[in-house]
Amino acid sequence: MAEVDAGEGGALPTGVDELDRVLGGGLVAGSVILLGGEPGIGKSTLSLQMLASVAVSGGRALLVSGEESPSQLRRRADRLGAVVPGMWLASANSLGDVLHFLEQVEPDVAVVDSIQTLADPDQPGPPGTVGQVRACAQRLADAARASGAAVVLVGHVTKEGGLAGPRSLEHLVDTVALFEGDRHDSLRMLRAVKHRFGPTGELGLFEMGEEGLRCVADGSVLLLGERRAGLPGSVVVPALEGRRVLALELQALVAPPGSGGSNRFAQGVDGRRLALVLAVLERRVGLALGGAEVFASAVGGVRVGEPAADLGLALAVASAATGVALPADLVVLGEVGLGGEVRQVPGTPRRLSEASRLGFRRAVVPCGFSGGAAGLEVVAVATLKEAVGAFGPEPRPGAG
Ligand code: TYD
Ligand code: MG
Repeated sequence: MAEVDAGEGGALPTGVDELDRVLGGGLVAGSVILLGGEPGIGKSTLSLQMLASVAVSGGRALLVSGEESPSQLRRRADRLGAVVPGMWLASANSLGDVLHFLEQVEPDVAVVDSIQTLADPDQPGPPGTVGQVRACAQRLADAARASGAAVVLVGHVTKEGGLAGPRSLEHLVDTVALFEGDRHDSLRMLRAVKHRFGPTGELGLFEMGEEGLRCVADGSVLLLGERRAGLPGSVVVPALEGRRVLALELQALVAPPGSGGSNRFAQGVDGRRLALVLAVLERRVGLALGGAEVFASAVGGVRVGEPAADLGLALAVASAATGVALPADLVVLGEVGLGGEVRQVPGTPRRLSEASRLGFRRAVVPCGFSGGAAGLEVVAVATLKEAVGAFGPEPRPGAG
């Protein structure tokens, strides 16, 4: 161990800031990255912009597309302002051709768009089958390691996690980054679900527009942009996404009991945490939901899984159930336990300073936290009941 040369191991920044954030600095030479996402989400756009950015800063970039012709790619690049010297382009569907281009161009970064359109003639089956996808990815990974090129494999994945192909590659690539978002909304999110060279918690934010993808450094402003303050059931939670705090809106709606079946609907929030919060609201706070249908969602297509959002979720439901809005300048933070107690959450000071920066003036936090942020009035609570009493609406027995 002591005699082995550790090498440089440094990452080459792509110059696309939000991508570099997710990758922990940039692309590592000789590594393989799987860029997964639903068709139409923006994988080809991100790839093209990343390659152009690498080329602009003097790197050698190669794009091999099995889906679009060079002239189609050129037209897209024109639109994105991604026509730059130092960028090579090829259309290919055969693994042999791709390996040949890698050898000829000797790129620093190469994108293969997509792995499902490639076939190795020595393998049985058409492109896109699990066997073909795996065999091609393995050969490309070997080529990446041998040549030192960072190779990005684009893979189409369906929402149901379907298309066994790309998911079956997870173990043989160094990094799996998933590109997500609501296709009807311009916000796009990039997350690393596996990353051999750094932490996986970072979230990259982009906005899809006429000129392609734009990095969103200030996600809170974008996410809260359409918020209608003063609406019952709405609450703002400063969520932790990697090293960044993202203030986002949670919404709840309580409707009369439906026609049986499930009566809890969660979108972007964890269904199990919603169930827990509802049970605690009924049993420990005395908020009678009486089998009502409860809807809860995170606005903007984001996902919040952390327990730190429990208290916000609970206040949103309480507010929705009673029709009394929470103060517009309030943020809420805390994990809720089964006993109705409110527990500490990590990163409270950072979350509060982001809330303060965004103009919020009041914060409900777990008791035991001492400190605060400039311009923020901090209300520490020990129980959910206390929080509902302090800032939430009065629980009316039988309401909802
Ligand atoms: P694309 O990158 O082709 O998606 P994928 O490779 O993941 O299938 O993106 C396609 C969508 O993005 C398409 O619906 C059009 C939209 N788009 C824009 O809105 N602006 C743009 O500048 C570009 C290039 C695409
Ligand atoms: Mg594409």
